[in-house]
Amino acid sequence: MLAKCLPLADARLALYFECNVREDLIPAEGLGSPVMDQGADETRRSLEAALSKALDFFDRASERPVAAASDLEHLRARLDKPLRAEGLPPERVVSELVEDVAGGILGSSGGRFFGWVIGSALPAALSADWLTSCWDQNAALYACSPAAAVVEEVAGKWLKDLLGLPPEASFAFVSGCQMAHTTCLAAARQALLARRGWDVEERGLYGAPALRVLSSAQRHGSFERAVRLLGLGRSHIVLLPADEGDRLRPEALEQALKSDLSSPTVVLLQAGDIHIGAYDDFETLIPVAHRRQAWVHVDGAFGLWAAASGRHRHLVQGVEEADSWATDGHKWLNVPFDCGYAFVAHPEAHRRAMSHRAAYIAHHEEARDEIDWNPEWSRRARGFPTYAALRQLGRAGLEALIDRCCEHARAHVAGIGRLPGAEVLWEPVINQGLVRFLDGAPGARQEDHDRRTEEVIAAILATGEAFFGGSTWRGRRAMRVSVCSWRTTAKDVERAVAAVERALDALGPRGGNA
Ligand SMILES: Cc1ncc(COP(=O)(O)O)c(C=O)c1O
Repeated sequence: MLAKCLPLADARLALYFECNVREDLIPAEGLGSPVMDQGADETRRSLEAALSKALDFFDRASERPVAAASDLEHLRARLDKPLRAEGLPPERVVSELVEDVAGGILGSSGGRFFGWVIGSALPAALSADWLTSCWDQNAALYACSPAAAVVEEVAGKWLKDLLGLPPEASFAFVSGCQMAHTTCLAAARQALLARRGWDVEERGLYGAPALRVLSSAQRHGSFERAVRLLGLGRSHIVLLPADEGDRLRPEALEQALKSDLSSPTVVLLQAGDIHIGAYDDFETLIPVAHRRQAWVHVDGAFGLWAAASGRHRHLVQGVEEADSWATDGHKWLNVPFDCGYAFVAHPEAHRRAMSHRAAYIAHHEEARDEIDWNPEWSRRARGFPTYAALRQLGRAGLEALIDRCCEHARAHVAGIGRLPGAEVLWEPVINQGLVRFLDGAPGARQEDHDRRTEEVIAAILATGEAFFGGSTWRGRRAMRVSVCSWRTTAKDVERAVAAVERALDALGPRGGNA
């Protein structure tokens, strides 16, 4: 009986999972509250304290500075308390935590945060994420959480559909694009070496043919880390020239592939690079790579989401022909951290690279056991927030989110570009643009403009009105304008541009050198 199964210890848990939840198995008096009896009151008080603080956090978001308002010294002074011998009531822990982190929480969940590539959290995704913690499922196996396994299975199917990827591709919900690269690259390593008669899962890389990775210089460092983690070695990454739009040159790829026909090869292509959102020409490059039996992996951390928009889909034309894809939920889909997705066109290679069997874990014949596809064992049930985000948005809502962010990015860059001393380096094609600030002094050199740009970024952050980050692109310091949040409105953009103007006014024409 299900009612009897519920409070069971581990040994009989499997039996419980085999029970179908049928109403006729539930006794008339109900199932009771087997989990919450212990500490029910303090759980309630703690959650209520958290809810009230969370609502206050959002209600007062527009009053708080977007950038950090506390420095390292103050944060340490507040947080580095002696660890007490005796514990504290949970609601007090929650309240003190909220007080002590004040000023150290960036406004990245709000609409005027344009640093890195950080989305905020859609209400349904955020709420589902809270429930994920309440339910506290170990999403390793169907047996550990049947609902988590099915939700992930469904959300994975929806994602492939929205991103225009092959329906038969396998997938994994991981902590972010970094781990999606690692997962996909493990599958690539498996397949490429298996084709050469080498079982990498069994024999490791000792004595194996060396893999090489071909990519343009626009690759993100997270891919390089995946290469290092998998023992492939950074020195095996070959950087090839890109064109004026930062796209890998087909002739350079062709030549590199021809120059070494024996090494197993991964070609890394970019769907939206970190600086200008550059897209490689998938339609041309993927067939070139495949003619030489290379595995094509696509870094689409945020840019792959262009596939969900009729206006931007042309940018990813042909991407579905790749062998693997990595993207994030915590960027453009606005799912809370952490959430990334790996997709692999060759499920068997993916499964061989990841799956695991042990005597004490119960696998389900028909269900999708997450451990077969993920690098982790115990893991958070990441499917719930993704499922909720997709249900909240629907196809049209997702498309509108992508298009809106791109429009805001364009308006934003254009608005800054009209300010005196500002120069547009890249008008956004998607949601990424670049500007810089010129030192107006006669004879000002590159390093003066670089310094001026840094000063302006610091001055904007000091206003507390908006957050931007800097980077070096084509040898010049630039301010990145990255719009990823569902919360960003045209008013937010206006307010941010006004903050840039105020910062410029405050600095004067020559900034700190005036
Ligand atoms: C293009 C690109 N690839 C990969 C990553 C790494 O993603 P994550 O931080 O989710 O691991 C990022 C992060 O900004 C990125 O912009």
